[in-house]
Amino acid sequence: MRLIILEDADVVADWAAQFVMQRINEFAPGPDRPFVLGLPTGGTPLGMYRRLIDFHRAGKLSFKHVTTFNMDEYVGLPRDHPESYHYYMWNSFFKHVDISPERAHVLDGNAPDLAAECRRFEGLIKEAGGVHLFVGGIGPDGHIAFNEPGSSLVSRTRVKTLAYDTLEANKRFFGNDISKVPRQALTVGVGTVMDAKEVMILITGAHKALALSKAVEEGVNHMWTVSAFQHHAQALFVCDEAATLEL
Ligand code: F6R
Repeated sequence: MRLIILEDADVVADWAAQFVMQRINEFAPGPDRPFVLGLPTGGTPLGMYRRLIDFHRAGKLSFKHVTTFNMDEYVGLPRDHPESYHYYMWNSFFKHVDISPERAHVLDGNAPDLAAECRRFEGLIKEAGGVHLFVGGIGPDGHIAFNEPGSSLVSRTRVKTLAYDTLEANKRFFGNDISKVPRQALTVGVGTVMDAKEVMILITGAHKALALSKAVEEGVNHMWTVSAFQHHAQALFVCDEAATLEL
């Protein structure tokens, strides 16, 4: 595991976008050889997405032969709700680049059979040959995707009930009204992300400082699920100085 400490969130966004571009371009994906990229939502990766769009517009990066898998989606939020992760991904990223819609996979939180939807998603990742690079973010309680404290470190894609800390952290997206935050989500498991060949986790802001210290300075612990990535052969934690306050 490597820890990269950069000045601020802007530099983290730039570094992360450059890294994604480099990995895609050096792989040189083609029609029968897609690059498989795992993606997060949330506030942290927005700057990275903006830069990836700029690289695409400048002709330096194409997503034509990139297949994506998003980490998670709320249960029961209509797809066109501005806070659904479908909406977020299409508006913040996918519609601005040349990705084929059928290659951009986001879990369906309105599927009639949620367990079957989770199995389908795992199957699609397998069919794609696994994820080359999974980009992730963490919550102040150390969750990665929606693998809340206490989640199994070998978990697969499934339905999770969100922890109170996560409802509290995400209410800012729902008019600061905690009662509007969906209580459940579909999420890839820690094991699903661990299977990726490479993992890059973005961590910015002083409110993530405790989570970062638990992630890297103590033992692997399922109460801080992101700590599992200490055991990943190719994991990068990319953070800003504010997030290192507790190190
Ligand atoms: C998002 C996700 C979450 C977020 C985390 C941090 O797909 O799975 O783990 O990365 O909640 O969110 P922000 O970036 O809003 O602080």
